[in-house]
Amino acid sequence: MPDNQYKFPSLPPNVYSIQDAGKTRLATVNMVPGTRVYGEKVVNSNGIEYRLWSPYRSKLAAMLEKGMIVPVVPNSRILYLGAASGTTASHLSDIVSGGMVFAVEFAPRVMRDLIDVCSQRKNMVPILADASRPALYKAIIGQVDLIYQDVAQRDQAGIANINARECLKPGGYLIMVIKARSVDSTVNPKMVFQQELEKLDDEFEVIDTKILEPFHRDHLALVARRKDHKQLASEDTNCL
Ligand SMILES: C[S@@+](CC[C@H](N)C(=O)[O-])C[C@H]1O[C@@H](n2cnc3c(N)ncnc32)[C@H](O)[C@@H]1O
Repeated sequence: MPDNQYKFPSLPPNVYSIQDAGKTRLATVNMVPGTRVYGEKVVNSNGIEYRLWSPYRSKLAAMLEKGMIVPVVPNSRILYLGAASGTTASHLSDIVSGGMVFAVEFAPRVMRDLIDVCSQRKNMVPILADASRPALYKAIIGQVDLIYQDVAQRDQAGIANINARECLKPGGYLIMVIKARSVDSTVNPKMVFQQELEKLDDEFEVIDTKILEPFHRDHLALVARRKDHKQLASEDTNCL
């Protein structure tokens, strides 16, 4: 019987733990029963179809396995940067159900698969664009509650900052995965993580970080909240 308490006390709404072949696995309710996105296993229970969610295939699932609290709720509007063919984005689509996932990807080869996934899901929009140029898509998406970023790029913090300024509500959240080797393969990953975290300082307050071993090597996941600059300015004035 699925529940969202056992083993994972901090699962967000609409994420479940399922007993499968003697193991406790993460799962989401399939928004499009009878279909799969990336060959994932599906399990039926009480007439509901669940898609198992592997932490080895998805860094967001790895974050949940590591006990991180992720700020995703039903009805969230999410800007997803680096959606690839939609593996993790499709689970977010299951989770936010009444919300929206704007899936940005710049590689035409995976974009074809992403378009197929989005065409079956009423809350996923594919956007063929470079995530370092949000001015090109901000008019389509408006303000979002959450940015999820997983781009293998050198300037990962810079991409998060510019997207936050253009598209993220003040007080909105960032979930980001930093891939050390994409930033600088010659430097110790811990140094790379520290440098990228410092670059987020102006725009974000970092709430939690975790290395994603053993699921993903040399990756740091973080959850951060966008600073409300107007509120901070009025607090400063009040102190005068
Ligand atoms: C590690 S994969 C993402 C996997 C995906 N997040 C998942 O869990 O299903 C990184 C993706 O980011 C895309 N990417 C890298 N730089 C990008 C950029 N500047 N703009 C848009 N997409 C980018 C790559 O083409 C690749 O598909």
